[in-house]
Amino acid sequence: MNSKLAVFPTSAEINPQGHLAIGGVDMVELAAHFGTPLYVFDEATLRARCREFKREFVSRYGNTAVVYAGKAFLHGALAVILRDEGLGLDVVSAGELHIAINAGFPPGDIYFHGNNKSRDELTLALRHNVGRIVVDNMNELDMLIRLAEEGGYTPKIFFRIMPGVDAHTHGHLTTGAADSKFGIPLSRAEEAVAKAMASAPLKLVGLHFHIGSMVGEHQPYLAAMDRVLGFSAEMTRKYGFDLQELDIGGGFGVQYTLDSPMPEVSFFAERLTGHLSAHYKSLNQPLPQLIIEPGRAVVAQAGVALYTAGTIKEVGGRLYVAVDGGMADNIRPPLYDARYEVLSAGKADVAEADEVTVVGRYCETGDILIKDTRVAPVVAGDILAVPVCGAYCLPMASNYNAALRPAVVMVGDGSARLIRRRESLEDLTHCDSI
Ligand code: LLP
Repeated sequence: MNSKLAVFPTSAEINPQGHLAIGGVDMVELAAHFGTPLYVFDEATLRARCREFKREFVSRYGNTAVVYAGKAFLHGALAVILRDEGLGLDVVSAGELHIAINAGFPPGDIYFHGNNKSRDELTLALRHNVGRIVVDNMNELDMLIRLAEEGGYTPKIFFRIMPGVDAHTHGHLTTGAADSKFGIPLSRAEEAVAKAMASAPLKLVGLHFHIGSMVGEHQPYLAAMDRVLGFSAEMTRKYGFDLQELDIGGGFGVQYTLDSPMPEVSFFAERLTGHLSAHYKSLNQPLPQLIIEPGRAVVAQAGVALYTAGTIKEVGGRLYVAVDGGMADNIRPPLYDARYEVLSAGKADVAEADEVTVVGRYCETGDILIKDTRVAPVVAGDILAVPVCGAYCLPMASNYNAALRPAVVMVGDGSARLIRRRESLEDLTHCDSI
């Protein structure tokens, strides 16, 4: 068995034809049917990850809400699964809110985030009566107070606190440090709490922080928790603030390559809930609800990108294999130096004798998908499967070089259904007028 299967969806296997199969569906046949680039999501893995988060956190800290961060990937079919599995949803724009509502996701389980929400977005959130609005800054607070007063709304809100903690991740993925565009610095947060507590329509029920993404350690979460809980206690003394809900964000790292393991969900669950319970035990106060917002860790491993190999060139001792996708559907390697594995879907049981660099088809030198990796001897027409593509690939996809954004398929129980058709040439000019 190829050891790379470990980073593919849980249902991945090598079928009797020697092909990669996911959800009981042969990936070579799937690529032939729908074309490539193709993004494949495994329903079993999606559900397993939702359940794992719920199980690991709720078994240790009963009052936990798992709120999926839709920015990692959002689609109506996923929203239905999330609702089924009892997760909430974090959205950051009118667009994400629309996708969720359109799929029938209950607005009361939606958490509305964003560091620069527009008046229209706040109005939409109020009209839909979303569960929580996570207020990022003082301007937003003022705008929300006005809109709530004018419209007669009584939204439940959190403040996003900038805890000033370094999450030790890629610089672009750090969000909770002292110098960040997200949230209210602790030094100004008292002003925000005082104002919200004095406002009749707003119900300040909790505090939120998010330290960053692809976090591989628990200590930064604990440090941020300590700061925010310390601040909360001070607000209780001064203003009678009641911390009913503590939202500690997402960021749980996932394994992309065989040589970069990440802690299990249970590792984080044990340490984070233990810390919170211990804190409250010493205070002898009621525990707040704990809210976690995993995005990547729910969807990353469930998604696989399929490409077709085209041009193969040997240059300067390197074998370059160009595929029919690249940075337009996955900008993560050039943006974050992200690394991936690759498996030849039709030669899944063949020794990986070739060292290759997989590049995209876009007019950009940096359009390198995977540098110096191993794959079974490759010829034009082979289907290459890249695992752990479920998070932050499609949502950041572009039409660079007038690329058509890929089709998306959901697989499970031996069948596949198209959940998003491939863009067409007509789609490219659909919004234009000459
Ligand atoms: N909550 C908040 C407030 C966030 O800002 C984020 C991610 C999450 C939750 C979910 O974080 P996750 O569990 O997915 O790490 N485009 C980057 C990732 C950016 C993450 C932004 N915020 C990437 O491709 O790695």
